[in-house]
Amino acid sequence: MQDRLTMFTHNNKQSFLLTANPPYLLRLTNDGYITYASIYIHELLGYHQNEVVQTSFKDYCYFRDYDHFIQKLESVIATNEDYFELEMRIRNKTGKFQYMQVAATVLRSSFHRKIEGILLIMRETTVQESELEVLYNEKLGQYEALVNHLLEAVVIVCGEKIVFANQASTCLFKANHVKEIIGKSIYDFLHSAHYEIWKSEYMKSAQTVGPMEFVWKTVCGNTFQSEVMIIPTNYKGEQAFQLLIRDVTERKKTERTLIEAEKLSMAGQLAAGIAHEIRNPLTALKGFLQLMKLDLKTKSDYWDIMESELERIETISNELLFLAKPRSTELKPISLKKLIQEVSLLLETQAIMHNIIINKHFPNEEIVIYGNEVQIKQVFVNLIKNAIEVMPNGGHIFINMEKDGGFVNISVIDQGCGIPEEHLEKIGQPFFSTKKEGTGLGLMITYNIVQNHHGTISVSSQVNVGTTFTITLPLFDETQYIAK
Ligand SMILES: Nc1ncnc2c1ncn2[C@@H]1O[C@H](COP(=O)(O)OP(=O)(O)OP(=O)(O)O)[C@@H](O)[C@H]1O
Ligand SMILES: [Mg+2]
Repeated sequence: MQDRLTMFTHNNKQSFLLTANPPYLLRLTNDGYITYASIYIHELLGYHQNEVVQTSFKDYCYFRDYDHFIQKLESVIATNEDYFELEMRIRNKTGKFQYMQVAATVLRSSFHRKIEGILLIMRETTVQESELEVLYNEKLGQYEALVNHLLEAVVIVCGEKIVFANQASTCLFKANHVKEIIGKSIYDFLHSAHYEIWKSEYMKSAQTVGPMEFVWKTVCGNTFQSEVMIIPTNYKGEQAFQLLIRDVTERKKTERTLIEAEKLSMAGQLAAGIAHEIRNPLTALKGFLQLMKLDLKTKSDYWDIMESELERIETISNELLFLAKPRSTELKPISLKKLIQEVSLLLETQAIMHNIIINKHFPNEEIVIYGNEVQIKQVFVNLIKNAIEVMPNGGHIFINMEKDGGFVNISVIDQGCGIPEEHLEKIGQPFFSTKKEGTGLGLMITYNIVQNHHGTISVSSQVNVGTTFTITLPLFDETQYIAK
């Protein structure tokens, strides 16, 4: 070995080789494995001489510097030269990178100049190192400060470990503190559907990738959709990936709503809507007519009901136009108990025919809301009609009303087939129907009306047990009404 070294120092009149004293030597195989390390390696980097033998030189190098090393080596070999020098960051035993001046000599056999290995001589470049380190840490601090204030979530991943997460990512992952994210594995957050592609493609990518659509899990296990840019970077000397994550759940929802709205605006849908609204009163009219045929002399109040039902058809047809093109509607205080009584009277014939009893539990006090009477009636017609339709073998429907602060809650509870979980999110979407003859517009109209009355609807259901639709509406506030 010494002979060879002498030979090289003589062959290559490089000042650095001559001044490297003591000789911190490494000998590498052609594919970068260390076959020899001089005893001084311990003094320089803290490793024991034998500890580094059989390991890859690459493992000690900062990745970009190693790439640089390989490039230089290849170009030296290509030009049939033997020697090059470069500055590299080499990891010492404590894990810190140290700047080193490295002189590399390609060892060739005298016969055919076949490459037999590479000899490295290293010298510490302490001044530069400390200056650069200060600069690097300063830059890193600036980077972190900047990124922490970005509205977009930024996460840095080294291997599979998350080493950095900015403030915005805590919102995104529903964490209270970045500590709940940093230090964890990316697989704790990434949806399992992306594991494979992350490992096989993105983690190896040397270029920026994206935007990609990714689904993530929050710390509480909920999922959200996102667009992600994956940018290869380095973090504290380690190869890493910077992920810019943007939550697109809301945007996707809006896109879906827009598509539905688009569908709705079509003339055909409007016609279907009108047909839907006309059907309920017509059913009642047909029922009464059949009864009258049997018993013509009595029940003259059927005529009144028929008349008011016909008016209803007319009003509802007009009101439906409002859905397609919102316009001002007649608003007034409405007695909700009276309104629901009227609706259930209307649907009682249909209910009785199906062996269904409608039970009402109302508070004693008067409940007054403010809104459009026809529309509010429509809400309850739709809900009770749906309840009747899911109970072909009869049973009970409960309509419970209770005051809750400045609001009233009205629940329509049935004992029907229930709604399977996969259908729950479709409830209220136009044209979602599981019925042979259903238009799937009833609940869409209902949701729309309740929303326009500043109310909310919630649904809970258990398959084969029943479904509860609960509507919450603000109570009429007389003081505000007078103020208007
Ligand atoms: N009380 C309920 N129990 C079980 N499923 C329900 C209930 N209410 C609604 N659904 C489900 O929601 C779907 C949509 O209801 P919606 O009232 O919008 O339309 P529809 O009843 O199918 O049609 P239409 O109202 O035009 O007769 C129904 O087809 C049914 O699958
Ligand atoms: Mg319906």
